[in-house]
Amino acid sequence: MAQELRALGAKTHSPVAGGAHFSGTLTSAYAANLHSRIASRILWRVAEGNYRSEADLYDLARATVWEREFSPDQTLRVDVTAHRSPLRSLQFATLRIKDAIVDRARDRSGSRPSIERTRPDVQVLAHLDERAAQLYIDLSGEALFKRGWRAEKGEAPLKENLAAGLLMLSGWTPQQALLDPFCGSGTILIEAACMATSRAPGLQRHFAFEKLRSFDRVAWTSLRQKAQAVVDDRAKMQLVGRDISTRVIDLAISNARRAGLGTALQLRSLVFEACDARTGEPTADQGMIVTNPPYGEQSSPKSASVGSMMADVAGQLKRKFPGWQAWLLSADRGLPQQMRLRESSKTVLFNGPLECRLFRFDMVAGSMRRQSAKDRDAVGQKLGKNGDQQ
Ligand SMILES: C[S@@+](CC[C@H](N)C(=O)[O-])C[C@H]1O[C@@H](n2cnc3c(N)ncnc32)[C@H](O)[C@@H]1O
Repeated sequence: MAQELRALGAKTHSPVAGGAHFSGTLTSAYAANLHSRIASRILWRVAEGNYRSEADLYDLARATVWEREFSPDQTLRVDVTAHRSPLRSLQFATLRIKDAIVDRARDRSGSRPSIERTRPDVQVLAHLDERAAQLYIDLSGEALFKRGWRAEKGEAPLKENLAAGLLMLSGWTPQQALLDPFCGSGTILIEAACMATSRAPGLQRHFAFEKLRSFDRVAWTSLRQKAQAVVDDRAKMQLVGRDISTRVIDLAISNARRAGLGTALQLRSLVFEACDARTGEPTADQGMIVTNPPYGEQSSPKSASVGSMMADVAGQLKRKFPGWQAWLLSADRGLPQQMRLRESSKTVLFNGPLECRLFRFDMVAGSMRRQSAKDRDAVGQKLGKNGDQQ
């Protein structure tokens, strides 16, 4: 994400756990909301200070000039996250910060903002560590992975920003053929198509910053117009999504349409088709597979275990996909063993709360032969110490 922000022209500081700080104008924060494919939300730090008690948090929030950004007629929500905070109750800390904001508004204007949990106009977030507290105004509102195109979900869809992250980690470029053999609702392919057509992920939605007093409509309109002008619906790309379920394929197609990719579907530069990954043929001589295969009950047919299905998929990859690179996101650490493939890299990633690994496998010509030779060696070693029974 830090790399992505730098590419957007923001001055980034070092990445921190789960995020990255950057500095710039509010317009650069609008641009990050509009263009970041990876961030979950963009927060604006408005105050910080050391604290030891809830009273210190109250004072910090009370001294912050909230009225510069929102009025008492607007609804508010306050949340607190903490890492090693000495405070006993985060709920109480949240209450004190909220009280401080509300008291300040009442003292200055005679009226107070009301609290709204589900659709607040303004969200304030406090982050507490051992000693320091930081207060933020959330500039995004709804999390940024909500691009505005998803109507229905397939089974276990990836969040859009995780899908974009997988593509970026894989190093895929729009010039390369891309295949997702377990595409579900199409998230990875839709993200890839948006990258290839230079479609900003935030073009179809609203953001919380639009409700702030500092909102610069002229700057925002110009950013959006520029983003719209560079969209190239006819960009060259070769993207194929497959799934064994025709119902899910229909869903992926309607999601892609809603994401503005109707022309790509028409041109067949983006294709969704029903196909079993155990028998699917390559879509080009060389390319990349980026996918998250099913786990547990998601395998089809339901009776076959995922492990044996993945062994069959691996057989197909070894036979038919030499020259391809496959990136598989799975919660199952035993995936390489199931597939009898050695990963060339693995990266730990969280899919929501689920710890997963992104495995990279390089399919080289002859890997099937080498693999069976290895299997023979393994059997040989089991049979006789000097292997002369192979
Ligand atoms: C974890 S989901 C993929 C979710 C997808 N990444 C998304 O964002 O919606 C796994 C998908 O694999 C499909 N599937 C299961 N067995 C399959 C097989 N043998 N061949 C192709 N697809 C299969 C399921 O129908 C399911 O949609």
